[in-house]
Amino acid sequence: MSTDTLTVIDNRTGKSYEITITDGAIKASDLRKLKTNPGDYGLMSYDPAFTNTASTKSAITYLDGDNGKLYYRGYPIEQLAEKSTHLETAYLILNGELPTVPQLEAWETAIKKHWFIHENIKHLIDAFRHDAHPMGMFISAVGASSSFHPESAEIFDPAIRNEQIVRLIAEVPTIAAFSYRHIRGLPVVYPDDDLSYAGNFLSMMFKKAELRYKPNPVLERALDMLFLLHADHEQNCSTNTMRAIGSAHADPYVSLAGAAAALYGPLHGGANEAVVRMLTRIGSTKNIPAFIESVKHGEGKLMGFGHRVYKNFDPRGRIVKQLAYEVFEVTGRNPLLDVALELEKIAREDEYFISRKLYPNVDFYSGLIYQAMGLPTPFFPVLFAIPRTVGWLAQWVELLNDPEQKIARPRQIYIGPEQRDYVPMDKRR
Ligand code: CMC
Repeated sequence: MSTDTLTVIDNRTGKSYEITITDGAIKASDLRKLKTNPGDYGLMSYDPAFTNTASTKSAITYLDGDNGKLYYRGYPIEQLAEKSTHLETAYLILNGELPTVPQLEAWETAIKKHWFIHENIKHLIDAFRHDAHPMGMFISAVGASSSFHPESAEIFDPAIRNEQIVRLIAEVPTIAAFSYRHIRGLPVVYPDDDLSYAGNFLSMMFKKAELRYKPNPVLERALDMLFLLHADHEQNCSTNTMRAIGSAHADPYVSLAGAAAALYGPLHGGANEAVVRMLTRIGSTKNIPAFIESVKHGEGKLMGFGHRVYKNFDPRGRIVKQLAYEVFEVTGRNPLLDVALELEKIAREDEYFISRKLYPNVDFYSGLIYQAMGLPTPFFPVLFAIPRTVGWLAQWVELLNDPEQKIARPRQIYIGPEQRDYVPMDKRR
């Protein structure tokens, strides 16, 4: 008997089965061999929220949750954050290898070629109310872009597919910035080819009447690093959504709009917004003990803490915390930093958080940086969606190229009523 197997005895029938273990996993479909009678569908595994189910093999991102490590294509996140840029890392994530100088130049040029959006998308953004949530605008504009590029339905044509990938990565900052200008009642600023990806984004956001916008290099680098840190994070909720929609062979625009909708939730990419709202509500360090007690009594969560996979410090959180100090040198210290630092200190000494292995995640300090840079709180999840576009697209391509993948279709355990006959209205009580 091979050692890489699992022997299972079904006590319902007394039968023994050998199930192959590959890469530390069994195939859930192998459990279907376990039947009580020939008509039985076979045994299923029940895993709400996929807490212990691998839905794919992936070569993109590796997350070592117990040791707080994150790698893109094998490269430690700390090295990339220090030495790379968001666009270079995007190339790595999408193509599997770091680019050569000509490859990087061609990649950056291609992005710049596509970072203008169709004027009608601008009109679509204009149709929103002044107080619309920017994630609603972002999701709508990305989804609507599908109708501007009908050829994007040809998802198995590599040339067409690559063009949409470049276009989406190029356009999302423009969509985001135009949404911001609309909310502020300001005229839009068109992309500037002389600036970097992050520098151009800052220009589209903050340029006023000056002829040329010169981004502050510290803020430009900080934003670029935040983009890089958010570029991919393996099979999280929004990536799983991108893959689920993509598995039905929908085009990348509508798939990405769906992924962004998942990201919007406060348990996921909406957490950075929720953290700042929480810190603002707490207001002062003297209110922290009462707040912690309320969390421990189940009255809400400590936003920006905890992670499904990290059971140790989120390595991105560590980098973001350090970055916050560098940004505050330029912008002035965010007064909420003191509340955040004290909250982290108290939580990390508290048995409730220690026993549950709850540590600050990437969102705990990122919102403070965005706020110090002058970005409105509802805009924070959009700043997550812009860079995560890279990861969503890389994972989508991996899905399409994976011969083991099919349309995503989980099973269920039906717990509703048995068959019954329709009751006419006059017989119902
Ligand atoms: N504050 C207080 N208690 C918490 C928290 C928290 N932030 N997170 C988890 N717990 C408790 C939870 O109540 C449960 O307690 P018990 O065992 O007594 O029932 C225990 O810890 C295990 O939590 P869980 O809900 O089973 O964990 P999960 O893996 O399902 O959820 C999470 C992960 C990130 C959704 C959750 O930790 C959370 O809601 N955190 C706050 C929101 C947040 O910061 N999200 C951003 C995640 S990082 C960015 C991203 O990639 O999306």
